[in-house]
Amino acid sequence: MYRWVRALLFLLPAELTHAIGLWAVRWSGRLGFVRRRLRRLTPDLPELACQRFGLQFPSPLGLAAGMDKDGTAAAGFFALGFGFVEVGTVTPRRQRGNPRPRLFRAVADEAIVNRMGFNNRGATAAARRLWTLARPGPLGLNIGCNKNTPEDGAAADYLAAARAVRQVADYIVVNVSSPNTPGLRDLQRAERLRPLLTALRADVPERPLLLKFAPDLGDDELFALCDVALETGVAGLIATNTTLWRPSTQGAYGEAGGMSGRPLAARAERALALAYGRVGARLPLVGVGGLVDAASFLSRLRAGASLLQAYSAVVYGGPGWARASTLDLARLLRSQGYRSVDEAVGHNAVR
Ligand code: FNR
Repeated sequence: MYRWVRALLFLLPAELTHAIGLWAVRWSGRLGFVRRRLRRLTPDLPELACQRFGLQFPSPLGLAAGMDKDGTAAAGFFALGFGFVEVGTVTPRRQRGNPRPRLFRAVADEAIVNRMGFNNRGATAAARRLWTLARPGPLGLNIGCNKNTPEDGAAADYLAAARAVRQVADYIVVNVSSPNTPGLRDLQRAERLRPLLTALRADVPERPLLLKFAPDLGDDELFALCDVALETGVAGLIATNTTLWRPSTQGAYGEAGGMSGRPLAARAERALALAYGRVGARLPLVGVGGLVDAASFLSRLRAGASLLQAYSAVVYGGPGWARASTLDLARLLRSQGYRSVDEAVGHNAVR
């Protein structure tokens, strides 16, 4: 069914398709009878329940940041079967983002290139909207800085955004890895990251703080980032954001921005495995980038992830994707002899 809907939707410009899809998910979440019906379709799978950084997750598969930038559709995404939802990136002040077009599909590869540039209505507006959200799983708030903020004001922006969302967020993600805000990725360097994370930890000590990094870091830069995360008391790492790398120069790949989806899988998994080699059992890792099905989930869990997220697969797989692939994961784990997701993760001694 979604194949046909998708064929029609993909005739439209990518951002319009996104707006239509988000609108549909928003209303599915708002209309109580639709939401309850969708929830009933999602089976309770106790073997997938797990605890990470002090939070209880009904399943390890979450929605990655960027899909629901303003938190208008979080209830709908929970109803579609995600175990947790990450809203954002939100910045302290609302901003329009980059000029359109800024979102492109490479359909044959199930990839996306985007240079959205943190279009959002601001951290306070998102927090207000999420105040009353009934959540079947944890809600993450992903924060960033405004485009027009000077370099020496970046830390103040992150602090302002964190303060705005602290009461509604179950965890907060420091996004220093978007390629679409000039200079942002520079914050991944240890000398800049250390004071930023130290200040955030001191200011918002009551919430787990996660750090999301790019798949394009050199190995030494990645190790230095991991060391700073350990040193400053970060609760987990998210590996990874979109990449500047391209598999070719054709079509959408010729566009500037970050690439996500299937062709990102190998790079994202390599970066996650490297980070796992550095931090081991000391920090939970959230695996994201090119996850498309249960086999890719299991591969990422074995590489060191203890939670998973997806964005592009939702675009290509449709509204039933989260529920179906979560069920597939439960089946796959059973067929491999694991009694729980923790046993698959425990295989790596990540606890
Ligand atoms: C993103 N992503 C993203 N990440 C983030 O931390 N903040 C953001 O605002 C966004 N925005 C965004 C917009 C669009 C259109 C896409 C496709 C992606 C990155 C996303 O969360 C994820 O890390 C990557 O997309 C890799 O995962 P997938 O898409 O390969 O599953």
